[in-house]
Amino acid sequence: MNDTDLPTTPSHLFRVVDWTKSFLTADYGEGVYLYDTDGKRYLDAIGGTHVITVGYGVEEIADAIAEQARKACFVHKAHFTSEPQEHLATVVAEMSPPEMDARVCFATGGSTANEVAIQMAQYYQVETGHPGRRKIIARWHSYHGRTIATLSLSGNLFVRRNMPLSQLDFPHIQAPHCYQCPYQLSYPDCGLACANELATTIEQEGPDSVAAFIAEPIIGGAGSAIVPPPGYYEKIREICDFYQILFISEEVITGFGRTGKNFGIEHWNAVPDIITSSKTLSSGYAPIASISVHKKVWETFMGGKRSGIPTFMTYSGHPISCAAALAVQNYIAKHQLINRCEMMGKYLKEAIQKLAERESLIGDVRGKGLLIGVEFVQNRETHQPFPRATKLVGNIVQVALGQGLILRGQPGTGTSVDGDHILISPPFIINKAQCDELVEILASSIKQAKSMLNLSAAHE
Ligand SMILES: Cc1ncc(COP(=O)(O)O)c(C=O)c1O
Repeated sequence: MNDTDLPTTPSHLFRVVDWTKSFLTADYGEGVYLYDTDGKRYLDAIGGTHVITVGYGVEEIADAIAEQARKACFVHKAHFTSEPQEHLATVVAEMSPPEMDARVCFATGGSTANEVAIQMAQYYQVETGHPGRRKIIARWHSYHGRTIATLSLSGNLFVRRNMPLSQLDFPHIQAPHCYQCPYQLSYPDCGLACANELATTIEQEGPDSVAAFIAEPIIGGAGSAIVPPPGYYEKIREICDFYQILFISEEVITGFGRTGKNFGIEHWNAVPDIITSSKTLSSGYAPIASISVHKKVWETFMGGKRSGIPTFMTYSGHPISCAAALAVQNYIAKHQLINRCEMMGKYLKEAIQKLAERESLIGDVRGKGLLIGVEFVQNRETHQPFPRATKLVGNIVQVALGQGLILRGQPGTGTSVDGDHILISPPFIINKAQCDELVEILASSIKQAKSMLNLSAAHE
């Protein structure tokens, strides 16, 4: 199957992506399924890129949005707050790790939330007497957004190389990717070399030039659910404390239950100073992001000359978005969907692991809750990836779409250039039969892609 088999839509939309590609037009969604305008049904295995949690078409969320639109579609923060914003701040603060004693502010999406966090960390350093501390250290195999600052943080080589833009001086350290260890070491003998690299990098950059370290607790799209080994974030926290730099837990994907806990960082014993979160907060019903701020940080802003500056964007804390997110979080609590996420995540991961027993291209199945990564390799002993030119993952995703399964894959988990992986993150409401359907189509898509690429004989 190729792009030309898909229905075409004449469009005046300026898509700054592949001009030659035709796009499907989505019509409506129901539960875990999305329907196009030709009536074809797709199982959304990625929840619209790790966004949808409660499913498509939930009436009570649509009602909450409509009600707020009728009441007050917008209020400006110079004069007003709104009831949904206040309630949502309480909900998010109570969901954040209790040790943070968090206060919460809002942004419009993942990129702007991370922008707020960067600025907050830099302001914090100024307010605590370290005005030279401006750099934010990030990791390779990461993605943090599309603004200049968040692109500069992003360690995904494809994103960086496709964006020949000016970049800020933000250093990167290796990701904790044990399956393809950048040091060719094994845990625990490695002594957490990847975490210790943070200390080395701070020393090399100059401790008085660094404001914060940012990391996705479980790496999302740029690494497909890479889970660091035990002790990793405890070590990171120790290093941040030693050098008095902030630890930003970037939970744009892992926040609000996707990994089976409120926030992904809670799988380790490390309390962050700032948590940014977005996609899962409103399950895609309206654009919004949250920033949970530790008492040690929010106290430095209280009554000071900096109050409010980083979050002063017109649409941050938009009342309709807050009403949508509030309704989503109430729905998740009422139906205990975070527990379900953990339970269904185990079921789905086991099913994909069973598939891996008979599908030799699958090298690693990993993740927590309903954030599951699959890494493809050409040699399961050595973990050797396919070269980029094979375009394995692109073919699997394209075949799956034709078979009614929405997947998303990226290159680069192996050597940062070679390697193929997909990140599976269906809505929390997925049931066992739908998990089985997902795995069945995934299996047949891999098989078909293999035969299209003439890999079948070598990789039975
Ligand atoms: C981990 C992570 N951080 C940040 C972002 C950027 O979020 P947004 O596209 O809402 O600006 C994304 C988006 O995919 C993401 O996956």
